[in-house]
Amino acid sequence: MQCLLSSLQQEHDGFSVQISCSKQTSADAYDICHPLQGTDKDEEENLCSLNMKSVLVTGGNRGIGLEICRQLHARGYQVIMGSRDIESGHEAAARLGINVSVQQLDVTDPGSVQNAFEHVERAYGSLDVLINNAGLGSTFFSNQRPFVSGISSFLKTKLPGGRQLINILKPVLRRTPITQKIPGPSDIALSEVRLLMETNFYGPWNMIQSFLPLLRKSPGGRIINMSSGMGEFASLAGNYPAYRLSKASLNSLTIMLAKELEDEGIRINAMCPGWVRTDMGGPDAPRSVEEGADTAVWLATEEETPTGKFFRDRMIIDW
Ligand SMILES: NC(=O)c1ccc[n+]([C@@H]2O[C@H](COP(=O)([O-])OP(=O)(O)OC[C@H]3O[C@@H](n4cnc5c(N)ncnc54)[C@H](OP(=O)(O)O)[C@@H]3O)[C@@H](O)[C@H]2O)c1
Repeated sequence: MQCLLSSLQQEHDGFSVQISCSKQTSADAYDICHPLQGTDKDEEENLCSLNMKSVLVTGGNRGIGLEICRQLHARGYQVIMGSRDIESGHEAAARLGINVSVQQLDVTDPGSVQNAFEHVERAYGSLDVLINNAGLGSTFFSNQRPFVSGISSFLKTKLPGGRQLINILKPVLRRTPITQKIPGPSDIALSEVRLLMETNFYGPWNMIQSFLPLLRKSPGGRIINMSSGMGEFASLAGNYPAYRLSKASLNSLTIMLAKELEDEGIRINAMCPGWVRTDMGGPDAPRSVEEGADTAVWLATEEETPTGKFFRDRMIIDW
């Protein structure tokens, strides 16, 4: 390995790179490529992309997306981390000490998606895996849950009988302005529905349409849509209607695209990460980000996976 590295380094320094690492595994290739400090960035990316599979992860700067980036980087993938705020992406990558390509990417902004496409096309020429991970929860998740779960965790953990007390207090708490009823489809603001559909449904759809030309250039392009059990038809309920609708729509799109793209060998699946401790999932969620990312990483890396299915914990689940 060291010998390969030094021979590659020498060749590279002499501007006559022969890509002697091209027969290595992708993980080896990654180790070889990235110590090449001080080289032209495009040259380095081209050098690496000859050996390694590429993956673009939207919303890669935190939560489950960041963990997917970390795990795929560890497996030798060339990771392109999409981040709405580029600084946040760089900081996240630096915190984990992972050398990934950070790309500004707001999935609701067609200009940003087009720039990302041009960058990936220029730097890598093709794309092996697209992971549509970026997502927004409902405003209830972001505005009220931290407060509600803060109080309930405190009561549950610090007070004997706290759990029972919460159950007794629930009806009263629901009438206060802070813990008011979660809006249902009958009274939710349609502006929220549009916002969530833009981010969780139209965003991934535009990403897929935009990046298909690059996925078609891969010998086995894959698309993974980060959905949720809250979008399962069998368990649809009256709470969180915007979020549920956005994920149920994403699931429908997954089926339609899988049928359309099957003959081209492009596999597309949806998955639910379970309830995960992230900014969206909150501190009470039972799963770690490692567990939440696992199925996405498996779908990205496993040799044989079906297409047009919905997964949780690497198992097919009902739509
Ligand atoms: N956590 C759970 O329990 C859970 C359960 C089921 C499904 N999921 C799904 O898993 C995915 C990741 O969730 P998470 O828990 O990791 O959430 P998170 O911690 O809140 O992270 C969400 C990520 O999405 C990004 N994002 C939001 N809007 C975006 C946009 N318009 N363009 C690009 N990026 C955008 C955020 O970027 P900024 O940092 O710029 O805001 C952030 O990187 C989501 O699709 C979510 O619906 C999560």
